[in-house]
Amino acid sequence: MTQPDTYLLGRAEGEEARLKRQIANLAPDSDAQFEKIGIKPGERVIDLGCGRGGVLHLLGKRVGPQGSVLGIERSPHFVELARRFVNDHALAQIEVREGNAYDTELPRQSFDGAHMRLVLVNVPEPERIVREMVSLVRPGGWVASFEADFMGLVCDPALPAWDRLLDVYKAHAAGQKIDLFIGRRTHRLFRGAGVKDIRVDAVLHVYPPGRRPILRDFINNVRDKLITQGFVTQRELESDMASLEHHLADPNVMVTSNTFFRLIGRVPA
Ligand SMILES: C[S@@+](CC[C@H](N)C(=O)[O-])C[C@H]1O[C@@H](n2cnc3c(N)ncnc32)[C@H](O)[C@@H]1O
Repeated sequence: MTQPDTYLLGRAEGEEARLKRQIANLAPDSDAQFEKIGIKPGERVIDLGCGRGGVLHLLGKRVGPQGSVLGIERSPHFVELARRFVNDHALAQIEVREGNAYDTELPRQSFDGAHMRLVLVNVPEPERIVREMVSLVRPGGWVASFEADFMGLVCDPALPAWDRLLDVYKAHAAGQKIDLFIGRRTHRLFRGAGVKDIRVDAVLHVYPPGRRPILRDFINNVRDKLITQGFVTQRELESDMASLEHHLADPNVMVTSNTFFRLIGRVPA
C-alpha cells in the first residue's frame, strides 16, 4: 500500500472558488445521471470524496426526507464547508463525515447506491477506492461514477504556452502516480470490481469566460511544487502564465473542458 496521497489540486483559496463554480456548472450533468439511475425516495446512498458539497444536495432531493445521504470526505476543511453547504440547502437527510474512501470502515452492503465524482483523477490507487465503493452497496443496488479525462482540455486557437503548461502539469501528475486520463478506463475499474450492466456516456463543455482559466487554476494550485520539484523554472512558468492570461483575455479564444465520463452500473443481485 502507498502512503496517504495528497489532493493533487492542493489547497489554494482559488481552488475552493474553482470547486464552488464546478459544483454549479456540473449539477445538471450529475442530475441527469441520477435521473437515468432512477434513484427512489427513501433510498440510503453514499457519496465518496464529496468535497465542499459536490452533489449532496442533488442526491438529498432525490432520496427525500425518508432517505439518507452520507458524504465521506478526507479533508477536515472540506468537511466543514460541506456541512455548511448542506445547512444552506436545509436538507436534514444529509450527513457529512470525515473519512477515507480507501477504507471507510462502514458496514459492507449497507447502501442502496454509491456515487463518486472527480475523486479517482486525484488518487494514485483508484482500483482500491472503486472496490471499497462497490463493497458498500447491497446486492442489486447501483453505483455511479463521474470522472475526468484530460483528453478534452484544449484551447483554440492553439497556444505553445498552453501546451507547455499542460505538459508540465501532466508530468507532475504522473510523478504522483495520478492518471489524468482515468475517465476512459472507469468502465474497466468497475467491471473489475464485479459491477454489471455498465453504461457509460461522456460530457464535454465549451467553457463560458468565467471557467476558461481552468488550466491557469490547475497550475496555480501546484505552482510551488512544479518549481521546487524541477518540472519548470520560475522564469519559464511566469512567462508561459503571462502568455496564457493574455490569450484567455481574448473573447474569441475557445476553451473546452476535460471529458467527463459518466458511468452507472449494478451490483449483482
Ligand atoms: C475534485 S474534488 C471533487 C469533490 C466533489 N466530489 C465534487 O464533485 O464536487 C475531489 C475530492 O476528493 C477528496 N478525496 C481525495 N482522496 C480522498 C480519499 N481517499 N478519501 C476521501 N476523500 C478523498 C478530496 O479531498 C476532494 O475534496
